[in-house]
Amino acid sequence: MTSPTITESELRAAVARELPGVRADLERLVRIPGIAFEGFDHTQVERSAEAVAELLRGCSLDVRIVRSGGQPAVIGTRPAPPGAPTVLLYAHHDVQPVGDRSLWESEPFEAVERDGRLYGRGAADDKAGIMAHVAALRAFGDALPVGVVIFVEGEEEYGSDSLERLLAEHRDALAADVIVIADSVNWDIGVPALTTSLRGVVNFFVEVRTLDHAIHSGMFGGPVPDALTTLARLLSTLHDDAGNVAVDGLTDAGPAAVEYPQDRFRAEAGLLDGVSLLGTGQITDRLWRKPALAVLGIDAPATAEAPNALVPAAKAKISVRLAPGDDRKRAYAAVQAHLERHAPWGAQVSVTFEHDGDPCVIDLSGPLVDAARSAFRTAWDGTEPVEIGVGGSIPFIATFQEMFPQAVILVTGVEDPHARAHGPNESLHLGEFARVCLAETLLLARVAEAGTGH
Ligand code: BES
Ligand code: MN
Repeated sequence: MTSPTITESELRAAVARELPGVRADLERLVRIPGIAFEGFDHTQVERSAEAVAELLRGCSLDVRIVRSGGQPAVIGTRPAPPGAPTVLLYAHHDVQPVGDRSLWESEPFEAVERDGRLYGRGAADDKAGIMAHVAALRAFGDALPVGVVIFVEGEEEYGSDSLERLLAEHRDALAADVIVIADSVNWDIGVPALTTSLRGVVNFFVEVRTLDHAIHSGMFGGPVPDALTTLARLLSTLHDDAGNVAVDGLTDAGPAAVEYPQDRFRAEAGLLDGVSLLGTGQITDRLWRKPALAVLGIDAPATAEAPNALVPAAKAKISVRLAPGDDRKRAYAAVQAHLERHAPWGAQVSVTFEHDGDPCVIDLSGPLVDAARSAFRTAWDGTEPVEIGVGGSIPFIATFQEMFPQAVILVTGVEDPHARAHGPNESLHLGEFARVCLAETLLLARVAEAGTGH
């Protein structure tokens, strides 16, 4: 290697020097409403990919925008110095829709600071992930001690439909010894985490039909089942009385190693007084290790406009989270069979698939993971990272593991428990973000020292 090794204190100074520019570029990214969902303006996803490409070009990477029938992803590469390992950095540039605008305290696509947090859709999930990678690259400048390939996906929040094809088409460019996925959450403010598992997900629609047209609710009501009551009855079969998912055929991954204090969990979730938690077992078992099922939306007449008529058809969107180790195809078949078998009153029930992603389990042993632990400990002033599971999903990970079974995977946090990703008033804790950027920089330095041996 020709470049002299940079010391830890030089890296700290370099990250501190880069932070204001990183923050400004994060704000620029937040202003681009790149939503991959159907029905949204996909030219914004293009703009977002362009903006990411520009940032990466500025880090002396060889950059291209790629797609395979879906939304644009950005790949940037820089070859490894002789003998040094190559690190793949992952993040996504697409964001979730903003939902009810009136619930936001500031414009969702403006970055606004309040009380040490930066508010805006994607400020945390996952534009902070992109900028953590950029921060590390900028901190090293020309002295980057590892090879880098960065992959910034453009449709993670919409189920990564073209991801498998993209990975296959760019397989050679994406090969790496270590992969850093900056799209998870830390344990608490001041306490870092390394993610050991994520749940899978299957989203689908269930439609119930009982009539071929709407009819007068007084003239026919009584003997005739309306579709909305029928749908409600069907949905109620999905949990048992204790709130456990009651669908046969979904697996359970056994107990988690860490527990989440119940009071803290209730507060972070914003659960109202008196509302009970669903299911049995430790909170972390229910959150990380067991399946979960939620109704995300229903198409039915709006109450303000509903006439006195029996509703002929109603449709719900359902999301099932799968335990680590479960299989998305089998799980979908199990839920579909459950819904068809439980059709109330002979109603017509049809289930249609939306999208899915496999769960994953990540092995946190070996010298490269130890190198990551030590980088985190240093960035958080001696606080050891907690090994956590995550209830959310990143479909990329299982796909990537299948393709590159040898690669060491590090799933790192940019969010904290107060980030409100996917909800109104999403935000990034700026103090923690500074640590995240430092941790990733130190991580690359330590991975370079550890070399390519796993
Ligand atoms: N960043 C999240 C995954 C995540 C959630 C990590 C919670 C840590 C804690 C990711 O962007 C995400 O939300 N993924 C989607 C995937 C789905 C659309 C296939 C999800 O989990 O809903
Ligand atoms: Mn994300």
